[in-house]
Amino acid sequence: MNLIETINLKKIYSLGETEVHALDNVSIKIKPGEFVAIMGPSGSGKSTFMNVIGCLDEPTSGHYLLDGIDVSKMERDALAQIRNKKIGFVFQGFNLLSRTSALENVEVPMLYNNTSPKERSEKARQALKSLGLEGREHHHPNQLSGGQQQRVAIARALVNDAPLLLADEPTGNLDTKTSVEIMELFVRLNEENRITIVLVTHEKDIAAFSKRTIKFLDGKVVSDERSLR
Ligand SMILES: Nc1ncnc2c1ncn2[C@@H]1O[C@H](COP(=O)(O)OP(=O)(O)OP(=O)(O)O)[C@@H](O)[C@H]1O
Ligand SMILES: [Mg+2]
Repeated sequence: MNLIETINLKKIYSLGETEVHALDNVSIKIKPGEFVAIMGPSGSGKSTFMNVIGCLDEPTSGHYLLDGIDVSKMERDALAQIRNKKIGFVFQGFNLLSRTSALENVEVPMLYNNTSPKERSEKARQALKSLGLEGREHHHPNQLSGGQQQRVAIARALVNDAPLLLADEPTGNLDTKTSVEIMELFVRLNEENRITIVLVTHEKDIAAFSKRTIKFLDGKVVSDERSLR
């Protein structure tokens, strides 16, 4: 069984007279427990692909099966529910709420399901602790380093026990040392917690932490290789 299966995905943006084929017949299968890096030059369709598999955007045509369910034509509300349950997102710019503590940021995804306030705070505390952020619960994002902010974002992504973590250039704003720390954290989440990870990066050194690298060019998959790590 695949966690992610895309079949002939196309995404076409129409800008006046011209059409941009951001995704051009992309068929990819990813099994539970995989750790995949997506690479390719700027404009090759990486973020478009992540947005579609993250249920943030709909393909123009083709199918997307998430955990065996065809979500390509699903209603907005149903899609939001599936997204909340199955997918955690991490972005280059951390995307934390700036006037809100680390703890409250991690609580956000639990506001949309039936978690009690007490349980919310306990789970958020535990998630922060497991990422080495004990003692930082009440810090606001601007009182945390870049690496700490990204770890808060990862805690937020995983607090609902999502089996799938999608990360679009998660180390793009971090220095080399901090990038390596974040990647080691991803490796741990993948190996110990069996979280499936799909991550976009421009850097070979970052992709080297994954077990499979898929390269995009002009909206198409041009290579798909497994590595030992
Ligand atoms: N909302 C949009 N409207 C029109 N064209 C778009 C839109 N979003 C993306 N595109 C185009 O689709 C193509 C793929 O964009 P995408 O953002 O997926 O690239 P990327 O591989 O993530 O690039 P980068 O490495 O710079 O982040 C590009 O040519 C881009 O200009
Ligand atoms: Mg991008």
